Amino acid sequence: MANGLDDIVAADTVLSDVDGAGGHLTIRGHSLAELTGHWRYGQVIRLLFDGFFDELPGDRELEKAIGNARVEVFERLRPALDQLAPLDIYSAMRAGMALLPDGDELADALRLIAAPAVLTPALLRLTRGEKPLPADARADHAADMLRMLGGVASPALAKALDTYLVTVCDHGLNASTFATRVVASTQAGLTSAILAGLGALKGPLHGGAPGPVIEMLDAIEASGDAAAWLRDEIARGERIMGFGHRIYRVRDPRADVLKAVVRQLGARKEMNNRKTGSRLAFAETVEQAALEVLRVAKPQRSIQTNVEFFTALLLEAAGFPKEAFSNVFAAGRVAGWIAHAREQQATGRLIRPQSRYVGPVPDLVA
Ligand code: CMC
Repeated sequence: MANGLDDIVAADTVLSDVDGAGGHLTIRGHSLAELTGHWRYGQVIRLLFDGFFDELPGDRELEKAIGNARVEVFERLRPALDQLAPLDIYSAMRAGMALLPDGDELADALRLIAAPAVLTPALLRLTRGEKPLPADARADHAADMLRMLGGVASPALAKALDTYLVTVCDHGLNASTFATRVVASTQAGLTSAILAGLGALKGPLHGGAPGPVIEMLDAIEASGDAAAWLRDEIARGERIMGFGHRIYRVRDPRADVLKAVVRQLGARKEMNNRKTGSRLAFAETVEQAALEVLRVAKPQRSIQTNVEFFTALLLEAAGFPKEAFSNVFAAGRVAGWIAHAREQQATGRLIRPQSRYVGPVPDLVA
């Protein structure tokens, strides 16, 4: 069956490499561990964009330009926000981004970087009956996103969110990046390409998993028996959210990075005001139960924890409601999408595979 394109190499890229057997992620020559906690998201954007835009400024200048883009996007899209807010928060963000110019210049790219970080908190505030807060051009990207949500940004949460954005900035030829490259290959503009990526990211098999992880944790907490709950899910043919991956046969390295970040946040009240005490300790118990249930239920497949399990805990601790988790994923992945779009455009080659016809044949005898 050709439907999942398993093991098909569809692009040469200098951007990132996913080693599924070894459990390593390389981003432009750097291991994930080298980047997370050491590089700011703005620096990683520069790393990804290098060579794909003329006259790319240095790190600090680029971060300032991203700040200016946040202000510009807020002002440009503010009049549309009241109409977008009644939609689900992901569709509202995507619709807002569709209103941006569809060019291929750095300014177009920076508006697309800025948009999820500006639209997500603004839309969340409107749905809570609060006035959206304008962007602050001088602030750090992650800190500004948190400030626009809650009015303040604790340095610990801003650092945690920045590490999250770096962790998810790019990941080989995943479904949304492939979708982005297909549209970019037609030489459509960056906004068109990024809208394709946004569409693909929404689904629960890709970027839509962390919201359901929270629902799963809450349901297990209510049931009181993690293993029994998980076994029932599998028996019903359901997938356990936050586990399994098309490429990784070992633990997703991003899960460990995010688990360490969540551990550092462990003492915060957001993590501890639950029936079961520490949210993290409870989640770790569920993780162990899930790995064991999956090992027994699917012995033919090595199913391990993926990035989404600890994403859910991190974004919950940062104050985002589960409905907005995929928006925050998009705020990180948009950098990788743009770099891939530019890399694909530069090849000048249209992506146009073939399908195998397995339908009925016409009756040739009249
Ligand atoms: N829970 C239960 N069973 C699973 C799971 C899971 N999470 N993942 C895979 N399996 C089973 C699947 O049912 C199948 O069993 P069987 O052979 O008995 O039919 C077997 O493992 C192989 O499944 P597959 O569909 O061939 O595997 P895949 O490569 O398409 O799966 C996946 C990748 C991410 C779609 C899948 O693991 C999944 O649905 N996970 C849950 C959703 C999730 O957490 N998604 C986020 C992915 S990580 C973010 C990203 O990088 O995009």
